[in-house]
Amino acid sequence: MKKKIFITRKIPREAFFLLKEAFEVEGNPENKSLSAEGITSSLEDKHGLYCFLTDIIDGDMIKAAPGLEAIANFAVGYNNIDIEAAAQRQIIITNTPDVLTETTADLAWALILSVARKVVCGDLFVRRVRYVDWDPFGFLGVDVHGATLGVVGFGHIGQAVAVRALGFNMNILFSDTHSRPEMFDHREKIEAAVKAGLIKHASLKEMAKKADIITIHAPLTSETHHLVNREILCSMKRNAILVNTSRGPLIDEMALIEILKEERIFGAGLDVYEWEPEVPEELTLLKNVTILPHVGSATRKTRLGMALLAAKNLICALSGEDPPNRVV
Ligand code: GLV
Repeated sequence: MKKKIFITRKIPREAFFLLKEAFEVEGNPENKSLSAEGITSSLEDKHGLYCFLTDIIDGDMIKAAPGLEAIANFAVGYNNIDIEAAAQRQIIITNTPDVLTETTADLAWALILSVARKVVCGDLFVRRVRYVDWDPFGFLGVDVHGATLGVVGFGHIGQAVAVRALGFNMNILFSDTHSRPEMFDHREKIEAAVKAGLIKHASLKEMAKKADIITIHAPLTSETHHLVNREILCSMKRNAILVNTSRGPLIDEMALIEILKEERIFGAGLDVYEWEPEVPEELTLLKNVTILPHVGSATRKTRLGMALLAAKNLICALSGEDPPNRVV
């Protein structure tokens, strides 16, 4: 008899058909998040769950799913799942790393360039038919080339962002739990840049004082919650830019809004928010921010890759094989 799984929202058909071959599938056919009650009641008789970063899979939900064996998260981050509750029950949890590394690094750069060169403000200006005279003082940004980039979290995505920075002749500071970076796909370039003194380790405090642009690529854990707090924000350079494509709660968002309002830094590029999907109205009124709806991995190819990888993970986990991306 086939095992039963639940999919919390619409997924690409290619992934759906893979799962349908392997399991008895029940799911939310809509491209819309379900309520916690909706997920809980559907999990009662299921062996597997295919879920998204918007689904909060907490201890109560896990308790209410006595037969649950595996959870496949359609995301690299898995802070939406109560890992301890799952581990206690020996429920396998998987994520979707690697497939989204380069795509997310591209988006971090889109935000960096957008804020530094006021791309969104300029676009709105032209659309509103305000461009009537070239202005030597209009839309003055800050230079990206030759600047110092601070990378918070020097894992796969942080390093992919850093290698792009080498093309802009930047110096790079990274802060991480390891002062010697673990090497991934860009090993050769990173090693050469470390050797040439272009990439150096720094504490977050030191980075805040020295970097012109800081970009965050660390996971959300109890240790990284509000990692970028008021003190760090206040010690950033007046012309500095802060970019976040990881998880909102890594930044004290209220403190950031104050600092942006007072123009104590040049600007911020945000793809994620502390109370996502809520975005404080105050943030939407600021001109020195570019704000996006959590689209770091949003290219056709990458989202399909994530969907297929999550499906593969669930199929392996429920058939007794080692899933490629087991986190617990
Ligand atoms: C997106 O934020 C992800 O974690 O994949």
